[in-house]
Amino acid sequence: MATRWIWPRGCLFFSICFVIFVSCPVDAAVKKYQFDIQVKNVSRLCHAKPIVTVNGMFPGPTIYVREGDQVLVNVTNFAQYNMSIHWHGLKQFRNGWADGPAYITQCPIKTGQSYAYNFNVTGQRGTLWWHAHILWLRATVHGAIVIMPKEGTPFPFPQPYQEANIILGEWWNADVETIVNQANKLGLPPQTSDAHTINGKPGPLFPCSEKYTFAMEVESGKTYLLRIINAALDDELFFAIAGHNMTVVEIDAVYTKPFTTQALLIAPGQTTNVLITSDQSPSRYFMAAKPFMDAPIPVDNKTATAILQYKGIPNTVLPTLPQLPAPNNTKFALNYNSKLKSLNTPQFPANVPLQIDRHLFYTISLGQNPCPTCQNGTQLTASLNNITFVMPKVGLLQAHYFNISRVFRTDFPDRPLTPFNYTGAPLTANLDTSQGTRLSKLAFNSTVELVLQDTNLLTVESHPFHLHGYNFFVVGSGIGNFDPKKDPAKFNLVDPPERNTVGVPTGGWTAIRFRADNPGVWFMHCHLELHTMWGLKMAFVVENGKSPTESVLPPPRDLPPC
Ligand code: C2O
Repeated sequence: MATRWIWPRGCLFFSICFVIFVSCPVDAAVKKYQFDIQVKNVSRLCHAKPIVTVNGMFPGPTIYVREGDQVLVNVTNFAQYNMSIHWHGLKQFRNGWADGPAYITQCPIKTGQSYAYNFNVTGQRGTLWWHAHILWLRATVHGAIVIMPKEGTPFPFPQPYQEANIILGEWWNADVETIVNQANKLGLPPQTSDAHTINGKPGPLFPCSEKYTFAMEVESGKTYLLRIINAALDDELFFAIAGHNMTVVEIDAVYTKPFTTQALLIAPGQTTNVLITSDQSPSRYFMAAKPFMDAPIPVDNKTATAILQYKGIPNTVLPTLPQLPAPNNTKFALNYNSKLKSLNTPQFPANVPLQIDRHLFYTISLGQNPCPTCQNGTQLTASLNNITFVMPKVGLLQAHYFNISRVFRTDFPDRPLTPFNYTGAPLTANLDTSQGTRLSKLAFNSTVELVLQDTNLLTVESHPFHLHGYNFFVVGSGIGNFDPKKDPAKFNLVDPPERNTVGVPTGGWTAIRFRADNPGVWFMHCHLELHTMWGLKMAFVVENGKSPTESVLPPPRDLPPC
């Protein structure tokens, strides 16, 4: 079957895509994309600056595939930064080589070099996304992945009339890498972003933004599918549309039991598909995104807006703003998350592990290390089980596959060495945090329960945790300290939400379960870039199974060298 390179550029892209879908009605197609990493001048909020992009687009091109397809994305780096791209939420069975996190599964693509990410999309359908997985470059290097169900397989909800991607992001007026470098020198957090964006545009509440407003035109009485992605670096966001309820039908490319809500909450890394019906009086309605922050931490509290525009309504009509929950509305957050449930039908079952082989308990901490050259003599840091993860100089997956010694250790502790009252009074005690490239080894096909426990070291805070290579089931969560005697009795083992990124509540805990059936090295980290940078990350080494079909694939020939 003939395939071709798709240069995703505006209308041309859509027409080529259309041709491919119509002319390739076979089961598994090969979808090819060329991603040129290019620096482009872009202006927002009356400030112009060069940004790193894919094919000059911000956000970048959408990857369209069908469940069962093979995807080949050739990435050529024309920027001055090293690059790597992660396909967030794709399971990459046996194929960590295509996962993308720099120094975890590959070395970066250097300037002038190319790497072709080659992977199959198996057993997943819905919305995911891709982003740069090195430095803070994902601020502008990100885009949507739309996985359509197999030909002839309908959605388990009413077929929408049309659909749109809604990518939420953050914008800084100054160069992001420069801001981050300067902050790290001072040992302080970088300044918060200057605006939030919807599809790269902050909307008319910001200066110089008339033409930087995303508008979605709708016809009266139709149903639309919105694929919402939180591509922000550090902010969990509320999202709502004035006058229109949303019906949540999918999260992180897994169908959910539908429920209707006025506003939704979405953490960095997460995706949410909703249905909306244009059944209000024809007018213009604002969509709005604004942060959720229920800890005493500064945040960019500005509201990004876009417009839901009924056909034929002139641009002179002033849109109304939706009601968003208050920025610190913990109750809304807990309540919203408790409504998320797997669809759990015979066709889309929730295969929650019921017997557990490995019980893991990881504490999430922020901290301060001495830093004589820093502004306050200290530098902010972060740790899991009191270990600040140190990035290696070569890819961990290569080190694992080729048995290269002394790159990492596999003694990441299953639980904190010294238990304490994790969420009691604020703790400033020096817990003697250590540094290391320490991984946790999991036997092939073992079932794992991991409790992520927030702590009050420096401050409590909500942390969206992302596991590469897997979906997991969120079987329970609560406020305070996890109680291993009482809390498991309350776990939902029937239809818990299945996802790849979960928000651990502020001063609370979340329990997840998964089956370690994907061999390789898989990164797990807080998806707040600020915390990842400070070391809130670790990785699992999942051993090979007995048969070759349960073992890590050989590396591709063009895998970038270090
Ligand atoms: Cu979306 Cu390791 O990240």
